[in-house]
Amino acid sequence: MPNAEWACDQRAAARVRDTLLAVGYTAEGVLERVGPAAFDGLARGLTVPVRRALAAAPPAGPTPVLDALITLFLLGERAPADVLPSALAADLEALGLVGTDAGGIAPRLEVRPYGEPDTDWYLVADLGAPADATHVLGAGGASLTLARITPRAAGGRALDLGCGSGVQVLHAARHIDSIVATDTNPRALRCTALSAALSGLPPEQLDLRAGSLFGPVAGERFDLVVSNPPFVISPGHRFTYRDAGLPGDALTQQVVRGAAAHLAPGGHAAILGNWLHVVGADWRERVAAWVTGTGVSAWIVQRDAEPVADYAAAWLRDAGEVDGPGFDAALHDWLDTFEAMRCEAVGFGWVVLVAPGGEDPGAPWVHVEDLAHAERLPTGEEVAAFLAGCAWVEALPAPALLASCARLAEGATITRTEVVGGASATALPPRLGLAGMVGPGGWRPGVPTHPALLAALLDPDDTPVGERLDAWAQAEGLEPIEVLGPVLTALRELVRLGIVRTV
Ligand SMILES: C[S@@+](CC[C@H](N)C(=O)[O-])C[C@H]1O[C@@H](n2cnc3c(N)ncnc32)[C@H](O)[C@@H]1O
Repeated sequence: MPNAEWACDQRAAARVRDTLLAVGYTAEGVLERVGPAAFDGLARGLTVPVRRALAAAPPAGPTPVLDALITLFLLGERAPADVLPSALAADLEALGLVGTDAGGIAPRLEVRPYGEPDTDWYLVADLGAPADATHVLGAGGASLTLARITPRAAGGRALDLGCGSGVQVLHAARHIDSIVATDTNPRALRCTALSAALSGLPPEQLDLRAGSLFGPVAGERFDLVVSNPPFVISPGHRFTYRDAGLPGDALTQQVVRGAAAHLAPGGHAAILGNWLHVVGADWRERVAAWVTGTGVSAWIVQRDAEPVADYAAAWLRDAGEVDGPGFDAALHDWLDTFEAMRCEAVGFGWVVLVAPGGEDPGAPWVHVEDLAHAERLPTGEEVAAFLAGCAWVEALPAPALLASCARLAEGATITRTEVVGGASATALPPRLGLAGMVGPGGWRPGVPTHPALLAALLDPDDTPVGERLDAWAQAEGLEPIEVLGPVLTALRELVRLGIVRTV
């Protein structure tokens, strides 16, 4: 029984869940109690505004149990022994969430209300700043990024590699039949079990297994693999949730290649990672090579890249290191490691994999891009649509594309920009987008579009797009090939993004 070791008392968890919901210990209830500014501050570790809000009685009258739960599980402070109903206190203690002594009730773990707009979940993690190697982190920025971008098909089996507090498990449970969650840290498996139970997941939906990387799932296949692994490239192995403990970006590489090998036909993987920018090498080629030979297709996105000194300093500060001689010595250590690998910057992003489907294997493709200037993250649905667009374009050879009649999709937008310098203004190539999705307010900038293609798209007829481009080139006194080259790249991107349809 893989679950038995980490199991918690499901009945006690259900009773606690009912009580937490009844007293309004939910994301919405806490927001209402402490106010939006204090609530937002909590996510940045600011607890004083919450304390001040609790000190003031709410307009609707006192809420002692809610206030005690906020004090215990969000501020990480003791509460008086008599403030919680005794049955609730007993269940919380039985689950290992609090301890009681002469000084009152003391929190043992963080229990943070969490959810999607129509759900109330709880995430169980360690309280406070990371102090030791086995610290279990709650949902951070990376966790939320992964939860958002994951493409979510209904049904099947999922694997969450490195489950931590269980945040990815909760999201997957909404659409996946059964989830295997793994971690090397037994305390993380216990937190995931508690998060799942307090969030009302049926215990049979979750299979918790201890072990490293794909060891616990050897020979198994999944319809979805998600992983926010400990991808940080550092000199040591200080925190299990953070440090890869393998040289350079080998851990991210191993998770990507392992996920590819464990996907069922048509399955998806969404993996966050860091990668080296090695002097003299193109990061795009390095990361794309991780997928070579795996037989799956990949969309590799870099969201940001930081020079190594900034990267190291940010992680040192994140771990509570304050400026001074200790900080400088540690920074030297990190920079020595990067220098030995001839690494000048570290990229952060995601790799989404798609295994070929059973009936239509298709040739695997790899699409690599830098989305540093995107205004927002794509949703899982947008990711799924983009993956389908990539597969469609891959199967469409250039002659077939040029022989089709290109049409702007419904919702297509044009953004025209002029750069004003002194008395003159220079028009930049117009960008085509898709309302709210691509271009202003979208998950990626609009696609710069050649005037020949724009003319054909804005004044459509039944002439194949290739002929329209030839005619435009001749009218401008250009060789068609001078136009076709740059136009084909943009046209393929427009079709991938669903801005242009081929008919
Ligand atoms: C950054 S946390 C992510 C937790 C959670 N999935 C999330 O999205 O917030 C990484 C997790 O991977 C676990 N981990 C570290 N090394 C691992 C390994 N070799 N195999 C599996 N899990 C590992 C850590 O214990 C930690 O819980």
